Amino acid sequence: MNHEPLIIGIDTSCDDTSVGVVRGARVLANVIASQDDIHRGWGGVVPNLARRAHQENFDRVLTLALRRAQIDWQQIDAIAVTYGPGLAVSLEVGLARAKELANQHQLPLIAVNHLEGHLLSSLAANRLGKAPLRQEEIDFPALGLIVSGGHTEIVLIEGWGKYQVVGATVDDALGEAFDKVARLLGLGFPGGAALAQLAKAGNPQQYSLPIPMRNTPDLNVSYSGLKTAMRRLVQEVSGDHPDRLTQIQTLDLAASFQRAAIETIVHKMRKTLEQYPVRQILVGGGVAANIHLRQQLRRTAAMFGAQAYFPYSRKLCSDNGAMVALVGALKFARQKWIKVPQQLDRVPQLVLSSESN
Ligand code: KG4
Ligand code: ZN
Repeated sequence: MNHEPLIIGIDTSCDDTSVGVVRGARVLANVIASQDDIHRGWGGVVPNLARRAHQENFDRVLTLALRRAQIDWQQIDAIAVTYGPGLAVSLEVGLARAKELANQHQLPLIAVNHLEGHLLSSLAANRLGKAPLRQEEIDFPALGLIVSGGHTEIVLIEGWGKYQVVGATVDDALGEAFDKVARLLGLGFPGGAALAQLAKAGNPQQYSLPIPMRNTPDLNVSYSGLKTAMRRLVQEVSGDHPDRLTQIQTLDLAASFQRAAIETIVHKMRKTLEQYPVRQILVGGGVAANIHLRQQLRRTAAMFGAQAYFPYSRKLCSDNGAMVALVGALKFARQKWIKVPQQLDRVPQLVLSSESN
């Protein structure tokens, strides 16, 4: 018999409607309805459109997740839901549905911080039970790096639910910087992955760019200066006609930006490792899918006798319900469910911190 908890995870924090199912750390389903097509024309996420799409997609996503996991409601142990950070109107949809379902099926409700989901997503195992890093193998304290569209944070993981943010961006997130520069290069929204794809064929040494805050003693990073430098560089290279960049110029600009953007965070990870000599680094968030970041972090970790771990799939890097279910399973084991589900409210500005006892 398998006594690992069977948990449903719901995430509607931004513009993806997602429901995942896990048995312990094993992902049985991870269904994501992307809204990229809806927001693309606006060049960014439009809150009211996001809310409506979540409402329209939710039931279909939930049904599909249960079907893929081949489970029914009697087997489920708890429902985990993201209550922050994120867009208030988006969070509300998932939270309302989670409360209804918990009530209807008489299940405990577990409140999950979306950032903890990204942070621990490299602990998720595939259907065969294979994970980049197994929960039992974690060696506290470990380091976490969250690199998403909304967050860039270096976290000291002192134990389960014990987190200390030791470094962060002071302005734009790394994914946001990728998206803004992708837009400058005419790659659409969200263009981070498209930019990374072009960067593979470009020369990263072609243009030199600043590494902001390189010499500050803290563990923070900044991306707004790099974005401004890129805007100037694009103007200069294209003779004030960004739409007339040649293909080679675009590839080299993409590669040069990617190199500087990633060196910015990797440099601070080196500083972090000098200060906190840990053996493991758990990386999560949309940009954790970036191959260049993976290479640089693996190399840096090795220099310090440590190892970097990444989620086993691209889907687990960006926003998804399985990472929420995974955190839910860990919290379920510690009996951290909400006493009065109806009182759980969304917290759009929620930060990562240690859970109370
Ligand atoms: O984690 P996520 O889905 O969203 C937030 O929670 O914010 O991350 C999405 C971000 C976007 O900014 C997207 O452009 C970026 O991750 N991204 C990438 C890559 N794939 C996704 N950035 C760089 N390289 C990639 N391969
Ligand atoms: Zn996210």
